[in-house]
Amino acid sequence: MERDSTALVTGGGRGIGQAICAELASRGHDVVIADLDEDEMAETAALVESEGQRVLTHQTNLKHLDSVEAVVETALSEFGSIEHLVNNAGIAGPTSACEGISSEEWDETVAVNLRGPFYTCRTVLPSMKEQGYGRIVNIASVTGKRPLTKRTPYATTKMGLIGFTRTLAAEVGEHDINVNAVCPGSVDGPRIRRVFEEKAESTGRSYEEVRRDAESESPRQELVQREDIANTVAFLCSSDADRMTGQDVNVSAGKVMY
Ligand SMILES: NC(=O)c1ccc[n+]([C@@H]2O[C@H](COP(=O)([O-])OP(=O)(O)OC[C@H]3O[C@@H](n4cnc5c(N)ncnc54)[C@H](O)[C@@H]3O)[C@@H](O)[C@H]2O)c1
Repeated sequence: MERDSTALVTGGGRGIGQAICAELASRGHDVVIADLDEDEMAETAALVESEGQRVLTHQTNLKHLDSVEAVVETALSEFGSIEHLVNNAGIAGPTSACEGISSEEWDETVAVNLRGPFYTCRTVLPSMKEQGYGRIVNIASVTGKRPLTKRTPYATTKMGLIGFTRTLAAEVGEHDINVNAVCPGSVDGPRIRRVFEEKAESTGRSYEEVRRDAESESPRQELVQREDIANTVAFLCSSDADRMTGQDVNVSAGKVMY
């Protein structure tokens, strides 16, 4: 039997995070959305409400511990408990050869992609331990498994997030708290289309050629849809995955197999 429960989703205002919020709501979870942008969160909130679930939006900047503490405190006082924590928010960081990356760009990428999940886990874990239950899902990337040239800060944070996932899973398993990572491949949507457009422009090739190249990295010759990621997160938050922890699950249409 599934628990009636609350999920806190970072970066739930748009993209993959929005799909995660909608999917968790459709499976009966109340949702707390922690993101920077109020308008985007309002759009996601409407999707959650249309599934008949309670929703709370809280403007949050994951770079700041006091901001993370505020959203967790509000979630606990409004909804009573947090059973699921989905660390989805992330930034792409700079695109440049390593020697062209500034300290500020490096620190910004680490602050959002790696220190953010540390702050949320550190803040939510005491209540999860007290209730003796928790499911944490970190959205990493296939770039957490293999290099992505000109993106050292991003790759380093995603590889680090997998290390964090495994270590935390080993640390908190005895409290029935599972910690897993999901590693998306290229997800179709506005963000990846912009990347393809920029690549087409900078290489003098057509958008279609660039896109076909990306698709051909998959044995299925396709990109991933954001709903694929949302379904996997929902599975990891369900009792079907009770004995899965410390895993990094690729959802990449077969682009990466390890
Ligand atoms: N889109 C892809 O192809 C892809 C592939 C692999 C992994 N991922 C990962 O999936 C996650 C979601 O990606 P997306 O494509 O939906 O990205 P997106 O840029 O569309 O959404 C990211 C969300 O995070 C929020 N966010 C950013 N910085 C924040 C901060 N400091 N505090 C609070 N919220 C913040 C943004 O406001 C936004 O709503 C990211 O961790 C990303 O690295 C994406």
